[in-house]
Amino acid sequence: MSELIAIKGGSPVRETPLGYGKQYIDDADIEAVVKVLKSDFLTCGPSIGSLERKLCEVTGAKYAVAVSNGTAALHIACMAAGVGPGDEVITTPITFAASANCALYCGAKPVFADINPETYNISPASIREKITPATKAVVAVDFTGQAVELDEIREICKENNLILIEDAAHSLGTLYNGKPVGSIADMTTFSFHPVKTVTGGEGGAVTTNDEETYRKLLRLRAHGVTRVQEEMKNTSHGGWYYEQTELGYNYRITDFQAALIESQLGKLPLFQKRRKEIVKTYNEAFKDIPEILIQKEIAESDTTRHLYILRLDLSALNCNRKEFFDAMQAENIKVQVHYIPVYYHSHYESLGYEKGLCPHAEKLYDEIMSLPLFYSMTDKDVADVIEATKKLIRYYKKK
Ligand SMILES: Cc1ncc(COP(=O)(O)O)c(C=O)c1O
Repeated sequence: MSELIAIKGGSPVRETPLGYGKQYIDDADIEAVVKVLKSDFLTCGPSIGSLERKLCEVTGAKYAVAVSNGTAALHIACMAAGVGPGDEVITTPITFAASANCALYCGAKPVFADINPETYNISPASIREKITPATKAVVAVDFTGQAVELDEIREICKENNLILIEDAAHSLGTLYNGKPVGSIADMTTFSFHPVKTVTGGEGGAVTTNDEETYRKLLRLRAHGVTRVQEEMKNTSHGGWYYEQTELGYNYRITDFQAALIESQLGKLPLFQKRRKEIVKTYNEAFKDIPEILIQKEIAESDTTRHLYILRLDLSALNCNRKEFFDAMQAENIKVQVHYIPVYYHSHYESLGYEKGLCPHAEKLYDEIMSLPLFYSMTDKDVADVIEATKKLIRYYKKK
């Protein structure tokens, strides 16, 4: 007889809950924030430029613009790409809604391309199929931290005169053919939300190698205002003068958040190493279990993984994803699902999107959950996740 799982009255693998993601803040981070709080500048101060220089160093990009969050980064990237009413923006449904909402913010239409069923990233072939004369940009998401097929997608964008925005909210530190993400696409956006590899509480950034795009991003972050004489349409009235030349937003980040992110970036190599170790341990533990499918990694991507996807072969199990998810929760492994296909959300339904658009994405959604993955997980935490997963597989496996 198989052992009793927690949801059926057995004992959980752990006594205390283990979440799927968690920030790691050390004394150096706290000191960096306190230093700013004691300084003259809480916003618009020197910590912003300092963070931007550090981001250029880490990503290899020429320019970086730090903003209030990853969603703001996507919004101003779309604006800088010239996305507007009547345009279409191609993205993946397996992402956080912000990757598509940025098109809606600009009055454009998000168009969903299907994923590659093995890597779970947007399929270049599907991008090609979705291009129309109205397509203006592609928002390619490095889902879980694995780089999208950048060479092929860049080629498609070049051939069709499209701007490539890489949504690297998950992939800070990932290399594509040895080059860090952030230096490859026309623009790359980052998020520093607490579950991400590096955090500022909230925070985001756009990187680019193009100076004109950089200048525009700077203006869009701050109301569309410039203090640069050459960018003004009118003559300066005097030393106090600044001019709003276009409609922008207040997407500024505070100096204390910037200082926190910069301090965290100093630990990026440590974070990367531990995340990679945990992914390797999971992959090793699951590789001989036929009921578990492991995400394929393309050779070009040296991935710093943000999420670890447990994908179930439901045809071999006597349960559905919801039952497995609930059973993991009962074992005190607080898994989550990334992501609900964006067009399943009722807001997207109200815009006329219907199920059936992207069959590979929809199948993936039915079979997945994200296992805990964060820097400060102990070996025991990792072992508990593996034990709980294996216990449930043994229980639900078709005999
Ligand atoms: C792929 C992706 N894009 C964009 C975002 C938005 O980032 P933020 O939460 O910083 O606005 C997220 C964050 O959850 C994300 O996962």
